[in-house]
Amino acid sequence: MTYPRKHLLAIEGLEPPHIADLLDLAESYALLNRSGKTQRDLLKGRTLINLFFEDSTRTRTSFELAGKRLGADVINMSVSTSSVNKGETLLDTASTLNAMHCDLLVVRHGQSGAPSLLSQKVDAAVINAGDGTHEHPTQALLDALTIRRHKGRLEGLIVAICGDIAHSRVARSNMHLLTTMGSRVRVVGPPTLIPAEAARLGVEVFHDMKAGLAGADVVMMLRLQRERMSGGMVPSAREFFRFYGLDAEKLAYAKPDSIVMHPGPMNRGVEIDSAVADHPTRSVIGEQVEMGVACRMAVLDVLARGLRRNV
Ligand code: NCD
Repeated sequence: MTYPRKHLLAIEGLEPPHIADLLDLAESYALLNRSGKTQRDLLKGRTLINLFFEDSTRTRTSFELAGKRLGADVINMSVSTSSVNKGETLLDTASTLNAMHCDLLVVRHGQSGAPSLLSQKVDAAVINAGDGTHEHPTQALLDALTIRRHKGRLEGLIVAICGDIAHSRVARSNMHLLTTMGSRVRVVGPPTLIPAEAARLGVEVFHDMKAGLAGADVVMMLRLQRERMSGGMVPSAREFFRFYGLDAEKLAYAKPDSIVMHPGPMNRGVEIDSAVADHPTRSVIGEQVEMGVACRMAVLDVLARGLRRNV
């Protein structure tokens, strides 16, 4: 295993062998999970804290399950029950976590860069579980693993990431990972929702769904993140669906064996039609959730190996 860092804060900066090794390890955890076996010795005596300043269902539960399957003591701290609501700063929280001898800290925060700041102040290995519009590295890993399981590779595949790219940390981490691994990445959406940096990241920009989906191997849909918009960036939900919502008619432009992905939570009828989201062969949305647990087990495993304190 070649993973070079103490923390996992971003995909940006990782090299192909680091990513490939993490995916291989995650694949072995996917098989272990399907067999119903666990490996409860690996993180025995380790404490994993899930520190979530933003709501989450699947990411938080998936880290919790991953930690428990590897034998860690898992504690969930959500902002509504923590003293942050009483005015405590991020750095006060860091000293509290240090005093608790937390080994692995999973952080989700509304501000880009918050997990990185925390990582400089805590002894624990920090995993970014989504920070503002910046990155969501474990989501990109689970997406890549799901793609690799269906297509056998990442290199040379045409991946269309569609919808609200500008506000999406999922899109940003995926752009970094997939371009690093040699996929041909397209971003598809209205000009207001495509970030200026897209060209720098080596992706192709499309404003028309049919052109963007033509010949694609993978179609990845994203939620409209209205909570991060300053208003007026999109027309009505109905109008958005007409131009950018994925339905059977638009999907017909992609390859006949293309797969449909969505990180969740989905807004059915806004960015994706139910018939496509629930399609028995084309949709791999359920498998993404399954691979999420496997990828998080791989990341916890690798970071725990790098921890100095022995238990
Ligand atoms: C995403 C997130 O929180 O960044 N969800 C997730 O982790 N599965 C995407 C979103 O909120 O739309």
